[in-house]
Amino acid sequence: MEENLVPSHVAIIMDGNGRWAKQRGLARTEGHEEGLEAAKRIVLAARREGIRFLSLYAFSTENWKRTAQEVGFLMSLIRTHLMKELDFYRENEIRLVHSGDRSGLPRDVLSEIDRAVEDTSHHRELTVNLAINYGGRDEILRSMRRLLSNLSSSAAEGAVSVDEAVGAMSEKTIALNLDHPDIPDPDLIIRTGGEMRLSNYLLWQSAYSELYFSSKYWPDFTPEDLHAALADYAHRERRFGDAR
Ligand code: IPE
Ligand code: IPE
Ligand code: MG
Repeated sequence: MEENLVPSHVAIIMDGNGRWAKQRGLARTEGHEEGLEAAKRIVLAARREGIRFLSLYAFSTENWKRTAQEVGFLMSLIRTHLMKELDFYRENEIRLVHSGDRSGLPRDVLSEIDRAVEDTSHHRELTVNLAINYGGRDEILRSMRRLLSNLSSSAAEGAVSVDEAVGAMSEKTIALNLDHPDIPDPDLIIRTGGEMRLSNYLLWQSAYSELYFSSKYWPDFTPEDLHAALADYAHRERRFGDAR
């Protein structure tokens, strides 16, 4: 594929683990285990395809509504994966970053995330952005809070007036206070599992993303399926509101 036709940033809503398991008479947790294997295959495929940034929706701010058993399983799956499989990221020169609200996460999960992020920070092949306790509205809210608290302390110090502080709020300053201002907006968002919705993923960043929906359950999504999504993307005409 020509270089400019490969999306720089692909984000994936990895949905359908529970239904995949149910279809086979297995527990939902077994669907999540299989989903993790699929995620590893897709990370390697993304690297081969020349994608620079891959965002993966692993746990939403709404997923706490699930049973304590399922939530506990997912948290421990994430933690043990990061603990035991750092070599996977090292060998493939993958940089890990985290998106989401740190304050709601268990301490032991946070410490594995921090260690993995730190250990892989110098890798340059592909950046994998793991969304854990992530919600798009929550991310925008956290950005606004950071921005307002910076501006109000400048105003309190007399450095700027309240009017100037309000005037300093812009799309740019909101974007700069999101979790990863250095990562470009996703060019392509893929959702598996058949539902056609964003479920609170990357709401600010998805303004002009191309959307691609697959009816396959996430554990069944293959590198060939990713390739098909990229081939579809390559035919899209992106206009960004311009007339062409
Ligand atoms: C996606 O699969 C994984 C997470 C949300 C953690 P689901 O668990 O939502 O699977 P379905 O949608 O119930 O099949
Ligand atoms: C979206 O899937 C969240 C993740 C994949 C982590 P959900 O299964 O939570 O979404 P809804 O509830 O069907 O919208
Ligand atoms: Mg689901």
